[in-house]
Amino acid sequence: MNNQEYGRILRDAPAEEPARQQYFMNQLKQLVEEKSRKTGRPLTACVQTFGCQMNAKDSEKLLGILERAGFQASESEQSDFVLYNTCTVRDNANQRVYGRLGYLHNLKNKNPGMIIALCGCMMQEPSVVEKIETSYRFVDLIFGTHNIFKLAELLFMQICEGHRVVDIWKGTDKIVEELPAQRKYPFKSGVNIMYGCNNFCSYCIVPYVRGRERSRDPEDIIKEVEALAADGVVEVMLLGQNVNSYGKTLAHPVSFASLLRRIAEVKGIERIRFMTSHPKDLSDELIGVMRDCPKICRHLHLPLQSGSSRILKLMNRVYDKEQYLALTEKIKAEIPDISLTTDIIVGFPGETEEDFEETMDVVRRVRYDSAFTFIYSKRTGTPAAAMADQVPEDVVKVRFDRLLKEVQKISAEVCTKDVGKTMTALAEGTDSHEPGMITGRLGNNIMVHFPGDASDIGKLIQVKLTESRGFYYMGVRLS
Ligand code: 5AD
Ligand code: SF4
Repeated sequence: MNNQEYGRILRDAPAEEPARQQYFMNQLKQLVEEKSRKTGRPLTACVQTFGCQMNAKDSEKLLGILERAGFQASESEQSDFVLYNTCTVRDNANQRVYGRLGYLHNLKNKNPGMIIALCGCMMQEPSVVEKIETSYRFVDLIFGTHNIFKLAELLFMQICEGHRVVDIWKGTDKIVEELPAQRKYPFKSGVNIMYGCNNFCSYCIVPYVRGRERSRDPEDIIKEVEALAADGVVEVMLLGQNVNSYGKTLAHPVSFASLLRRIAEVKGIERIRFMTSHPKDLSDELIGVMRDCPKICRHLHLPLQSGSSRILKLMNRVYDKEQYLALTEKIKAEIPDISLTTDIIVGFPGETEEDFEETMDVVRRVRYDSAFTFIYSKRTGTPAAAMADQVPEDVVKVRFDRLLKEVQKISAEVCTKDVGKTMTALAEGTDSHEPGMITGRLGNNIMVHFPGDASDIGKLIQVKLTESRGFYYMGVRLS
């Protein structure tokens, strides 16, 4: 394409979204078709996700845009377009990306036409972008978390201009609806209900890379859930950094509990999950809705982070050990079959043996179904990174191993409690280790293996749990 033509295409682009992106998806499609005619094969695109469910959901949107623009989705990094959707919550997430980039460079040396792109949380850190620009010059396109909806426009520009395109937004109040998404599973889907985070836990980089809290309009959420149900989805996972504060900043404020009630009314949706809940905002209204609505799964992910009130204060978590324990007691009293899971950080600056023992104490009292345990990772720019008394690595490692052992012992015990019961499982896939078996997920998020075949996938099946195998059950089907 010559410069004049390129200039005309940019000039003619609609200013409003999503019309602008629809336009660029069409423009990109023409380029992709032309290239594919020349090479005599379809052009492939691979999107790899690092990080959380929020990122996984973003990747579905990115792949949706690419497919609409004529690319064929591929799992392989030996593709014409490779996009890494990055995470920066802990340093090991960053290191994984740098490691994989070396591998991509080799692939690009063999296929110079390949386009390499990076987006997501890591790219919201100026020092990372600087490093990529100077030391990873083979990266062709860089964008962040706030403008993923612009992928078609940015990629179109990159191809036409033939040099690297970098577009990072510091923040946004914009939520662009109605762009395509390529769902990974036909029967379940994540649904964003809010973006960003206002909590500023002192260890956490998320508020800096995902920006301020913005809730989606409830009508838009309901419309999306209805469309998913019409498309065969039976389970939705409502996504947000802190779902309990959903709706507080809307022009007409609504509570998360009332949103749940409305979603439960959507015909065809059989199961509702959500994540993540901050203990400080978990309302009695929410506990009541969970108790009364059978469609809401009996599972609550309630990050503890630390059991020491002193450390919780330094973490800016706004609750103490006693309040957290009282909250879990109240939830268990109202919903006796609830499954509680959590996130715990070991080795926050200044953590003493006594502080760590407080964490172990909460773990023993709450008896989580499972817990994600993390070694504290220093994130530049967060208040905790500047705190004195960073705990020595060897001390943290010993505590981490002790915690992990305790958590695993308790989960194995908790995971025997439903043996003999009949529960509903959503068949999610065939078991790759054992032919003739299906892997299903119970409402409490624990997996169960039972006989079945591919035709069961996506169905809700009654399963009698016959045996516990530590972290999952074996079962026989009754439907
Ligand atoms: N170091 C270690 N773990 C962290 N998390 C967030 N930030 C850090 C950090 N700097 C953990 C928290 C959070 C989960 C998503 O990641 O436990 O709940
Ligand atoms: Fe998710 Fe946080 Fe990682 Fe971003 S940095 S992908 S929000 S866990």
